[in-house]
Amino acid sequence: MDRLKLDVNGSFDPAAGGLDRQDLAALAPAAKAAFEGFEARRRGGELGFADLPGDRAAADAAIALAKDLGGRFENLLVLGIGGSSLGGRAIVSALSHPFHNLLPRERRGAMRIFFPDNSDPATFEALLGTLDLAETCFATVTKSGGTAETMSQHLALRERCIARFGEDGYRDRCVLVTDPAKGALREIAGADRLRALSVPASVGGRFSALTAVGLLPAAAAGVDVSELLAGAAAMEARCRSGDATQSPALLYAAVLHLLDTRKGRHIDVLMPYCDALRDTGDWFVQLWAESLGKNPRTGPTPFRAVGATDQHSSLQLMMEGPHDKVVTFVRVASPRADVSVSVPPGYRKHPEIAYLDGHTMGELIEAERRSTDAALRRAGRPTVTIELPRLDARAMGELLMLLELATAYAGGLYGVNAFDQPGVEAGKKYTQGLLGRPGYEKFRDELAGAGKPDPALVLA
Ligand code: PA5
Repeated sequence: MDRLKLDVNGSFDPAAGGLDRQDLAALAPAAKAAFEGFEARRRGGELGFADLPGDRAAADAAIALAKDLGGRFENLLVLGIGGSSLGGRAIVSALSHPFHNLLPRERRGAMRIFFPDNSDPATFEALLGTLDLAETCFATVTKSGGTAETMSQHLALRERCIARFGEDGYRDRCVLVTDPAKGALREIAGADRLRALSVPASVGGRFSALTAVGLLPAAAAGVDVSELLAGAAAMEARCRSGDATQSPALLYAAVLHLLDTRKGRHIDVLMPYCDALRDTGDWFVQLWAESLGKNPRTGPTPFRAVGATDQHSSLQLMMEGPHDKVVTFVRVASPRADVSVSVPPGYRKHPEIAYLDGHTMGELIEAERRSTDAALRRAGRPTVTIELPRLDARAMGELLMLLELATAYAGGLYGVNAFDQPGVEAGKKYTQGLLGRPGYEKFRDELAGAGKPDPALVLA
């Protein structure tokens, strides 16, 4: 069976200032230790994401709930932020029709799915003003069970649903995805008698794409959840080795780590040549940044680009800017569709257009990817290529598991805990202080007591 291919030749190219095989050999003990460290925490029950593909009961529960909602409603709003939104959005946009939400029901064959994500009131109000609430249900997704952005959306929708449909109508329309035991939302599920799916305690937000967090919206959008999990399981099985020359995830983590620490390539660009994987790039940025950005002296910076769009934007920086980037291309070997191009007689006298005649847009974008890879390497810039045989549920499962495992191993190589995010807590405390949460007065006072701004530095 065709499967995901990881090609790191572009990072071992002497012309690209790349690594050599000895660098990889020298890292072997550290790579093995990173793998074994992860496996030990996994066996201890602390880290559950790599075991999710085997959790058939959780998948069935998400599929059943999606089916029930899909039988009664047109629209599903997924209220969540960060890891509680990005994974589901990445799966749905990768595997659905590019204009899924615009299709008529007969062609869509599934619910419309919306991920408002941010707590920007203008977007949220516009969304609620656009959808017919009678045809809309919502899933409130928060592992911790109390995230401000998510709960503000939940409360606003809850109020409108109760006002319009009563308590029972609200209960009909609202489902929760949260921790199995902890958090305010779990208590609310019991008190308000709301249907709730669980995110296993051992799976943190950004590693939760293959829990109900991603599977519920995926199933509601008509994605083949079983194939998604089968792909993830296949990748997990391929990565059961502490030898980076055998495991795609360990090799990817090792190559990016070596390029960062030995060659100064601190910025990891993920650049799919495929619009459907744009949101996967955003998901990766969060995964890599929030997991690895924990030490002021070390740690990579992720960046998302899309080919060919970014050839007309950030590629200039990648090609001639500082030598601090590695570009990972994601290539889909067999695109779902292609469009042939034929140049009409009147245009043939223009050689700068006529050469397109007889080609397809698929050939064009692939030629652009190949050329950009070659040009980057010639300019002394390392690259990696991840090739998916097709963009289907199985390949998407492989890709998600590859990047999640690579993140876990990279945490080991950088010597940081990839599974916490203490840095985002400080800002949350100030917000809660400003909004008057009891017990958080000292954070509000700290902000009030902060030095007065220098008026010379403010241009009004
Ligand atoms: O990866 C993480 O843990 C975070 O990005 C969370 O997903 C994000 O902060 C949302 O948290 P929660 O699911 O608790 O609402």
